[in-house]
Amino acid sequence: MTRVDRRQALKLAFGAGLLPAAGLANAGTATFNDTTPLRYPLRLGFNENPWGPGPKARAAVAAALDDGCRYGVDYAMRLIAAIAARENVPGERVCIGSGSGELLHMLALGWGARSTVTCAWPTFAQLMSFAEKQGATIRRVPLDAALRHDAAAIAAATPAGTGLVYLCNPNNPTGTVLPGAALRELCLELAARTLVVVDEAYMDLVEPGVTESMIDLARGDTNLVVLRTFSKVHGLAGLRIGYAIGRPDLIKKLRALEMVSPNVLGLAAATASLGDTEFIAQSREYIIADRRRVTAACRELGMECSDSQGNFLFVRTGVPIAEFRVQMKNRGIDVGRPFEPLTDWCRISLGRTAENTALINALRNFKGARA
Ligand SMILES: Cc1ncc(COP(=O)(O)O)c(C=O)c1O
Repeated sequence: MTRVDRRQALKLAFGAGLLPAAGLANAGTATFNDTTPLRYPLRLGFNENPWGPGPKARAAVAAALDDGCRYGVDYAMRLIAAIAARENVPGERVCIGSGSGELLHMLALGWGARSTVTCAWPTFAQLMSFAEKQGATIRRVPLDAALRHDAAAIAAATPAGTGLVYLCNPNNPTGTVLPGAALRELCLELAARTLVVVDEAYMDLVEPGVTESMIDLARGDTNLVVLRTFSKVHGLAGLRIGYAIGRPDLIKKLRALEMVSPNVLGLAAATASLGDTEFIAQSREYIIADRRRVTAACRELGMECSDSQGNFLFVRTGVPIAEFRVQMKNRGIDVGRPFEPLTDWCRISLGRTAENTALINALRNFKGARA
């Protein structure tokens, strides 16, 4: 298909005037009304939360702008105090970072470099990719048949002397979780041998009762760190703030590995967002409602889906991921990257309600074209 043909096909499918515009798609209002026209291509590949930032975070960013000429020490102290209050820990158990991504790099440097790292596979690879560049050996343990962490296999692959073990719950890209009791048992067994990192980036989005946060272990003496981010339910991915909770000695070592101090606007936004309970509740509610709706639609179309607890689905498309990405791009939607070895699956992030409806229509059209 030539470039011109593809453009014509897009116009036919979605109406004229919907081609890529400057800036990022479908972000920029603080309300949950969906009346703004969609901007194509829809950006459903990065697990962002396009409902954010919430109203309180927006107001805080505007107010903090004047302090853009200052370093953010006071802002950082206020955020640490707010996180400590929220997580019910003293401030010495909190380490903030420029996104939890920075904290993953710091953990890789401090515990993984020139050592060994165990993880499930596929999972969120940022820590392992960085550790590998620092000379680490990675032990990748395949997910089980339900695409969940295989606790027994992970334990078997983590002898004493391992640098750290990375557990992502819910897991990215599958969105699957381990039940609370099983995860706790695994964490306690592993923590006797090595540092356990539990990445809870999506924990605010889980259905009640399916799993549990390991934050209570991070409040005690366990050799374990829990990671959280403001990029998901808070909708602040571009403002780059995350945090770690753990034992004071672990947090002290982590803080010494900070690369750059977090930015003033992000710190202000995150502090305000912690108090925006209305926005967080609505954000969660909209994401969960559409997770159910899009999952049901995919299953109706005969597409297998993992049991995702994140703001994304993991869908078996039946075609190689490279082809699926082109097929969806032709229908105006950018979807997730490959996650080897599951190359006929695709991670598709949830967008706003209208975007998710457009996604369902595009998937129907994709399936219809193959029937
Ligand atoms: C599981 C997980 N951890 C950490 C991150 C990094 O998030 P951030 O650096 O934006 O806090 C992501 C981002 O998608 C993620 O999926």
